[in-house]
Amino acid sequence: MGSKLVDSRHEDGITWITINLPEKLNALSFDVIRQLEELFEAAAGDERTRVVVITGAGDKAFVAGADINEILNMDMSQAPEVVRRGQELMNTIENLGKPVIAAINGYALGGGCELALACTIRVASSNAMLGLPEIKLGLLPGYGGTQRLARVIGRGRALAMMLSGDPVPASQALDWGLVTQVVEPDALQEAVAKLAGRLANAAPLSVRSICDAVYRGADLGLAEGLAIEAAHFVDLCASEDMREGTSAFLEKRKPDFRGK
Ligand code: COA
Repeated sequence: MGSKLVDSRHEDGITWITINLPEKLNALSFDVIRQLEELFEAAAGDERTRVVVITGAGDKAFVAGADINEILNMDMSQAPEVVRRGQELMNTIENLGKPVIAAINGYALGGGCELALACTIRVASSNAMLGLPEIKLGLLPGYGGTQRLARVIGRGRALAMMLSGDPVPASQALDWGLVTQVVEPDALQEAVAKLAGRLANAAPLSVRSICDAVYRGADLGLAEGLAIEAAHFVDLCASEDMREGTSAFLEKRKPDFRGK
């Protein structure tokens, strides 16, 4: 697999994943994608992990896209495998069953923007720039961007972004709902740690059910979406955590959720 390009550490229910290639603006090479896939799969199966944060090393970029050198130099017969692996990673992240926070600490372009779009929540530093510039390379966003961007910010804005290829600053991304919080660069770590800490203490089954109902429901009609919601509601009513949460409220104490 080659050298370690992505770092991971665990602390208080939170797994922090950092792409560590700042000299290449954390470009998503095929090896980086493979290492991310492994780390996310490990986080999914790790009981201690209640939430994952992903970010890029350095103060310039979250991820400046797929590795353009690799794309140019690959054997064209590899294209289906390249797009499959990229899309699979984004699907793994979106369907992790645990929230994933993108801490967008600079450029989030191409595959970097697609990676952020696959995350549950996006928090950006005020110097971040987000965009899908693939059109400028004679490509299209192939790691889920054509589908997820429109679902997040609407078709009109998504088409305008993809057809111009021009990135938008964090303030614009906030206006459009592409990110939900913008903070000064030196406050990003703390803001994300606070959000992650809160999610790490939330009821895990509720978190998983909410994400599942929102994601699966978005691709269905209202009646089918409501059926998913109802099934989750019934399951959660039978959970120990529902007893714990409601009792804790009535007893005016903090709940201790166990994910059961
Ligand atoms: N793939 C491979 N290498 C990349 C890269 C990418 N997506 N993005 C940046 N790099 C490399 C640059 O080639 C450069 O390498 P070098 O020092 O060996 O020349 C290094 O990272 C630093 O980038 P540089 O372009 O010098 O920084 P900058 O501040 O002038 O510009 C960007 C920053 C993000 C505007 C610019 O790097 C850029 O446009 N990157 C490509 C974005 C893109 O098209 N992404 C979609 C890919 S599908």
